[in-house]
Amino acid sequence: MTGICWLLLAGLASAVFAEPMVHFREQFEDGDEWQTRWVESKHKSDYGKFRLTAGKFFGDEEKDKGLQTSEDAKFYAISSRFEPFTNEGQILVIQFTVKHEQNIDCGGGYIKLFPADLKQEEMHGDSTYFIMFGPDICGTGNKKVHVIFNYKDKNHLINKDIRCKDDEFTHLYTLIVHPNNTYEVKIDNAKVESGTLEEDWDFLPAKRILDPNATKPEDWDEREQIDDPDDRRPDDWEEIEHITDPDAKRPDDWDAEMDGEWEPPMIPNPKYKGIWKPRKIDNPNFKGEWVQPEIDNPEYVPDDKIYKYENIGVIGLDLWQVKSGTIFDNFLITNDEILAEEIANETWGVTTEAEKKMKELQEEEEKKKQDDKDEKSTAEDKVAVEEEEEEEVEADEEDDEEKEPDEDEDVEEEEEEELEETEKTESSPKDEL
Ligand SMILES: *[C@@H]1O[C@H](CO)[C@@H](O)[C@H](O)[C@H]1NC(C)=O
Ligand SMILES: *[C@@H]1O[C@H](CO)[C@@H](O)[C@H](O)[C@H]1NC(C)=O
Ligand SMILES: *[C@@H]1O[C@H](CO)[C@@H](O)[C@H](O)[C@H]1NC(C)=O
Repeated sequence: MTGICWLLLAGLASAVFAEPMVHFREQFEDGDEWQTRWVESKHKSDYGKFRLTAGKFFGDEEKDKGLQTSEDAKFYAISSRFEPFTNEGQILVIQFTVKHEQNIDCGGGYIKLFPADLKQEEMHGDSTYFIMFGPDICGTGNKKVHVIFNYKDKNHLINKDIRCKDDEFTHLYTLIVHPNNTYEVKIDNAKVESGTLEEDWDFLPAKRILDPNATKPEDWDEREQIDDPDDRRPDDWEEIEHITDPDAKRPDDWDAEMDGEWEPPMIPNPKYKGIWKPRKIDNPNFKGEWVQPEIDNPEYVPDDKIYKYENIGVIGLDLWQVKSGTIFDNFLITNDEILAEEIANETWGVTTEAEKKMKELQEEEEKKKQDDKDEKSTAEDKVAVEEEEEEEVEADEEDDEEKEPDEDEDVEEEEEEELEETEKTESSPKDEL
């Protein structure tokens, strides 16, 4: 075999059987040590603080610990670095979990993948990134999964709508980018969207365009039917709609000098047949609707490396949150889809059910407590109402004697004041005159 053949084979082998590689993994399972791996940006002085917690309910208090946004109405900017790599010829999987346990109203839940040359302490909303991926919620209308790719220095949003989860539980978000320029988005380990990068983003101009130079030929006949040129109006066809009444007579006492020239009234023509129209026949010259022909777009240049990034080196959270409390955990960047799914099963997969149970239990307890409280306060209210009624009766008796005259005086005074004011407003125009 020639060297080139060997090279080709080796290239194929590395693309298909790439060694499983974990570029980044963060589980937050070593106490405060995460602070040595994550760098908070100092670009602004008032970024919100992240804290380590499993939150109000969880499947496993240790395993479910993650970074939680802890202050309302704040920007957040934090990132972590890893050995730079390129995804050329490799699958790229980005995976993490998001839990909006605060019942989020408006806030980001996405990650950004940055080039290795990012200055982490200066990271901010406008820092150049390669990929932005994850849920974003604002109000009831905007609940989507962002998948934004930077291509030739421009950010491109996916042109499909992927709805994100908006409940209070932990959800797993996975983006897979294949080196054949296809992608897949999974939520909770199930595919929710997939396709090709070229079709679902506008990275490249359209492959085909309408030929701007093509125009409809002047003799192009688009009329499916025409009037029959051989059809003639019958001689007795009556087209006059109204005629003078042949039976009308000038009244005997008509005085032409006084009343003007007498004219007989008009009546509908009994023979009237409407406007005559020739019958329709199929147009022998009919050519169908003219369609602007398409041509290959001269601007289109294919790119089989749309997916490719050099020097991927930082993952970060760059967010705005109105209501804080979101917990991020289980970050993973790898070149192996199966491995990502396995890890997902071993992390999110084993705690998700227990998390739901704990929340249900908490809600039941909460409801019980509330019911008890309601019952108690109803009982208290009853006693209070009875006491109040007794007091009121006593007070009313006093009122009858003392308060009423005072009140009447007040009313009179008010009325007097009002009267004065009306006089004033009414008198002022007079004064001017
Ligand atoms: C692209 O690659 C993925 C993963 O290898 C494969 O499942 C998919 O069928 C490929 N798609 C195309 C259009 O070649
Ligand atoms: C349209 O015609 C002009 C002039 O002949 C030519 O230069 C141009 O390339 C044509 N455009 C396309 C898209 O074919
Ligand atoms: C992950 O778990 C699901 C559900 O139990 C299972 O169907 C799937 O095969 C698992 N995936 C891997 C890679 O182990």
